[in-house]
Amino acid sequence: MPDDGDILDFRSDTITRPSAGMRQAMARAEVGDDVFGEDPTVRRLEQRAAELCGREAALLVPSGTMANLIGLALHCQRGDEVILERRTHSFSHEVGGGAALFGILFHPLESADGRLLPEQVEEAIRPVDVHQPRTRLVVVENSINLAGGLLYPFELLRRLRQLTRQRGLGLHLDGARIFNAAVASGVEPATWAAQVDTLSFCLSKGLGCPVGSLFVGDREQVDQARWLRKMLGGGMRQAGIIAAAGLYALEHNIARLAEDHARARELAAGLRQCLDERFRVQPVETNMVLIHTDSAATTETTLASWRRAGVLALAPSPTTIRLVTHLDIPAAGARQAVERISRATREQG
Ligand SMILES: Cc1ncc(COP(=O)(O)O)c(C=O)c1O
Repeated sequence: MPDDGDILDFRSDTITRPSAGMRQAMARAEVGDDVFGEDPTVRRLEQRAAELCGREAALLVPSGTMANLIGLALHCQRGDEVILERRTHSFSHEVGGGAALFGILFHPLESADGRLLPEQVEEAIRPVDVHQPRTRLVVVENSINLAGGLLYPFELLRRLRQLTRQRGLGLHLDGARIFNAAVASGVEPATWAAQVDTLSFCLSKGLGCPVGSLFVGDREQVDQARWLRKMLGGGMRQAGIIAAAGLYALEHNIARLAEDHARARELAAGLRQCLDERFRVQPVETNMVLIHTDSAATTETTLASWRRAGVLALAPSPTTIRLVTHLDIPAAGARQAVERISRATREQG
């Protein structure tokens, strides 16, 4: 196995470390007590985030999980129900927080590719009936992490918006990677954001920050979100240090996401050439390559062999392998990974 410095780590875009420029911005940040509303850098970040999303206000929170949880709690009372696709992060990977902390029921639906269809939602909305919980909210994700970074098509979102409006439901967008979606689709974040009631996005993924997410919506929603953040223990004091990283990322690290997408495509093309029929490499839409395998055993031995060759990936399920490109993957990283994997495959075969 190559030494640490030579390992190509495609496990996630969350592993990126703040760059020298970002660290300088953090070191220089003007700060105050943000729970008192006195941190000027946090205020600037929140304003910038709201502006980029074309919405009235935004709130800095510690994580994407907290931003989504605030979204659930804002739209639902105890005993209310939220409809989402089963691969949606807030259902599958956020510890059931909406149920545990706010008594919200999850109504997970299954689609072919993680994209929630308006027809499915319509069917799943509960009738107004004294025996049933009330459907209050629909959550969608863009891009869809557990579906391999697939985009949620804009037209689908528009139709979902029509439906949720007609039926009096809230619509929350988990836009943890909304900038990847925007760069890949050419549809601006504000255009996506105009179709939903609330959204969240993460600074700590492809944008390369050490921590932080934004909850975005109307002024009134964000005022309420501030209470919920405090209730959840997410009120932060001199958070300008973190906000400075966010401002830096919003200025420097959005357009370059196109490079991550190009590297993911390059990686997928190379892997299609060198992997055998036990593997199916899904078409790439953003910064993830998802490979479907024929068995859990194949997944396990493959990950171990790649690890020995100096390429790290993750298995989001027993029969899928995911590689994520990000700002700490060098320009030649995709080519090098394919070379290493080809060599490891030849040596095994
Ligand atoms: C789509 C999506 N939403 C939310 C989150 C949660 O973010 P955090 O890890 O900051 O809680 C993640 C994290 O991977 C994610 O991929």
